Amino acid sequence: MFKGILIDKHEEIYSVKLENIDESMLPEGDVSIDVHYSSLNYKDALAITGQSPVIRRFPMIPGIDFVGTVTDSSHPDYTVGSQVILNGWGVGEVHWGGLAQKAQVNGDWLVPLPSLFDPLQAMAIGTAGYTAMLCIMALERNGITPDKGDILVTGAAGGVGSVAVAILSKLGYKVIALSGRGEEETAYLKSLGAAEIISRSVLSEPGRALGKEQWAGVVDVVGSHVLANACANTKYGGVVTACGLAGGMDFPATVAPFILRGVSLIGIDSVMCPKEFRLQAWQRLEEDLDITLLENIAVEIGMSEVISAADDLISGRIRGRRIVNVNR
Ligand SMILES: NC(=O)c1ccc[n+]([C@@H]2O[C@H](COP(=O)([O-])OP(=O)(O)OC[C@H]3O[C@@H](n4cnc5c(N)ncnc54)[C@H](OP(=O)(O)O)[C@@H]3O)[C@@H](O)[C@H]2O)c1
Repeated sequence: MFKGILIDKHEEIYSVKLENIDESMLPEGDVSIDVHYSSLNYKDALAITGQSPVIRRFPMIPGIDFVGTVTDSSHPDYTVGSQVILNGWGVGEVHWGGLAQKAQVNGDWLVPLPSLFDPLQAMAIGTAGYTAMLCIMALERNGITPDKGDILVTGAAGGVGSVAVAILSKLGYKVIALSGRGEEETAYLKSLGAAEIISRSVLSEPGRALGKEQWAGVVDVVGSHVLANACANTKYGGVVTACGLAGGMDFPATVAPFILRGVSLIGIDSVMCPKEFRLQAWQRLEEDLDITLLENIAVEIGMSEVISAADDLISGRIRGRRIVNVNR
């Protein structure tokens, strides 16, 4: 038996419980893992609160990421004792996920734990941090460098936002952090390297098709009017990366920034992202993230705290990240 969060649905009644689960119920997979840590991402909070139909098969163990040690493997890349990370691939949505002491997955979905990180640090970064890195790599691939101008990071006090601010500032960018908690989180955002903090309300209302050219690049986790206004205020030739929908799924924009300023809008997906980009992203995290900042960004919680933390995350009350110690 092992401990895990189990989500079930019977006749439209949604239940989320910390349960003892029989190992024989684990899904098929060529690698078995003792999970050490998972983390709480926005998608996990949607799944646990039932606010959005993230889970497509019941019963389901949520948790879109984990780090752990291989206990059994018939996959050529992993042997017993290998330390591995998993991000995405539908884990925690259609395949049992990381918010449990054990997991069994397809070895092709795993990446080795980078040597510079211990398991706790890997989940302090988690899917949110790996996605932040994917956004930054996309800015770079599309020609953005610190001399091109400032970078706007939206939802800056959240998981993706916090890690993005930390990496960008270490890379030498001037980071403008957009936050709905600007006043209470000024010291936090500055400690991560934000040069300037602006209030979410500046970009969250319907705006003009084109505004003042303010930033060369954007990491957006919010969507909706914030994304539309972020595009409208991007400099000529700038690049906007869109990875989230914390403010809404809609995109009430015009084509003006794209056809009059040559702005590029790049979509970022961490779930089905090819393995070569994942490996690159984790290697870049080793190089370009000041790991001492992870102590500011992430707080460890135990399994009994996960359900209430999910409520807090959806309500925008969590600063940075929550690491889940599945053995606590
Ligand atoms: N595409 C992908 O593969 C991928 C991967 C990871 C995450 N995501 C998405 O990225 C987003 C952020 O994920 P996360 O884990 O960083 O979540 P998070 O920790 O909850 O951060 C989201 C942040 O967005 C801001 N926010 C919340 N509600 C908002 C609203 N109604 N309007 C405007 N801003 C709002 C808040 O920041 P402030 O308080 O600072 O304003 C909040 O901390 C989510 O939509 C998630 O699904 C996508």
